[in-house]
Amino acid sequence: MQLLDGKYVAEKLKLEIAAEAAEVLAARGRKPHLVAILVGNDGGSETYVASKMKNCEKVGFQSSLLRYDPSVSEAELLDKIREINADENVDGLIVQLPLPKHIDPEKVTEAIDHRKDVDGFHPVNLGRMMRNLPCFIPATPYGILLMLQEYKIDTAGKHCVVVGRSNIVGSPMSILMARNANPGNCTVTLTHSRTKDLKEQVLQADIIIAAIGKKNFITADMVSPGAIIIDVGINREVSDKTKSGYKLYGDVDFDNVAPKASWITPVPGGVGLMTIVGLLKNTLASAKKEIYKS
Ligand code: GUN
Repeated sequence: MQLLDGKYVAEKLKLEIAAEAAEVLAARGRKPHLVAILVGNDGGSETYVASKMKNCEKVGFQSSLLRYDPSVSEAELLDKIREINADENVDGLIVQLPLPKHIDPEKVTEAIDHRKDVDGFHPVNLGRMMRNLPCFIPATPYGILLMLQEYKIDTAGKHCVVVGRSNIVGSPMSILMARNANPGNCTVTLTHSRTKDLKEQVLQADIIIAAIGKKNFITADMVSPGAIIIDVGINREVSDKTKSGYKLYGDVDFDNVAPKASWITPVPGGVGLMTIVGLLKNTLASAKKEIYKS
């Protein structure tokens, strides 16, 4: 078994991003700029957004965090998004999900200018992704592709089983792995909570992408020898044994699955760190107008 080491790859790619960010600053007189909107104070969202902001600073981006009380109205939020859309000094805008129940996440997602949608959630970006056109790819799937690329994992012709069909990870991942691209060219099965014979499906996989959000959901009896395992799970549990007060668990029962795998991502230290890299690369591409020219 070999580790797909998110920490190593993320640090390496962040050095490259930092070098390019310095070039943007020299050429344009300003840094790539990411704005994040955080509504409320969900513990997980707080941690993720803080990490996104910290990493922006680390690679020489400007970052701005706009915080809102959970009682903020949908109209106020949409007004702010429109204001940021029009701000020439902002390259990327993300609204951390989930949002309070009275705010429609679809309206919010569609309000963001697709040219600044560095989360890659806007229908224009998802549609372009389907058609294999230049677009912002959602950060977690993008991070997984970068990881597979870095380790030169040959995915062509392999059977990839994705577990979980979320808009953010499972659904886009299934499309990306099936695309005529590298990584890609897989035969893909997208499984979910209503899949009848989940274990049998997962046993067919050369590549398993676990994005179901349930601790240790993928067990050793579901995994064929030699499979490549990508664990997207970040399941937080309160713990008195860690400095943060939380311990993270993946969707994969790592201790028992790892001995059967050819490659596997750890949690923490795997996909989570690559998600940030995906976001940074999208923000940089936006600042350089690589996807949309104007
Ligand atoms: N919530 C969970 N993952 C994500 C993400 O990648 N982007 C945003 N905006 N919210 C999330």
